[in-house]
Amino acid sequence: MQKDIKYVLMTEDEIKSAVERLSEKINNDFAGEPVLALIILKGSMFFASDLLKKLTMPVTIDFMKATSYGHDSKSSGNINILLDTSLDLAGLNVLIIEDIIDSGNTLSKLKSLLAKRNPKCIKLCTLLDKPERRESEINADYTGKIIPNEFVVGYGLDFAERYRNLPYIGVLDEKVYS
Ligand code: IMP
Ligand code: MG
Repeated sequence: MQKDIKYVLMTEDEIKSAVERLSEKINNDFAGEPVLALIILKGSMFFASDLLKKLTMPVTIDFMKATSYGHDSKSSGNINILLDTSLDLAGLNVLIIEDIIDSGNTLSKLKSLLAKRNPKCIKLCTLLDKPERRESEINADYTGKIIPNEFVVGYGLDFAERYRNLPYIGVLDEKVYS
């Protein structure tokens, strides 16, 4: 696997510090109020499991899986929910946990869909953000690292379902997909 990595973008230690910093900010902002953490599968599995262990308020956890389809980023209808939460979101503080925001299409649609369920608030926490690639207007409330327009893998992120179990985040060598 290592030979397919062009360079390491975030070491294990850098990930750990980012998680620490994000958890402190989230703990501070929510000031002990309960949170429903919605983990977006599969990419954010490691990030969410590390982050959630550092949160000090009462936390409930659920999973969602979504893909957006088509390039009609203005339409809020183009989202495929492959796994939905069965919890009633009314009045809850929802914290979406995502691995990376790229075009932003999936998350902007997911967020407007969840907003219709009357939560008290929806906050978005992402480990990585590639703002250069944005098509839909969406900003995270908590961002681990802003990265250049490169395809990254590891710590949950995949290319064709591979590399998720790398303990660090690396830029994938173009030779793998070209
Ligand atoms: P988007 O923001 O709707 O374009 O899609 C975001 C999703 O695309 C993420 O949740 C990832 O699954 C995937 N993705 C985007 N960029 C990368 C990358 O650099 N490596 C791995 N997956 C990526
Ligand atoms: Mg993903």
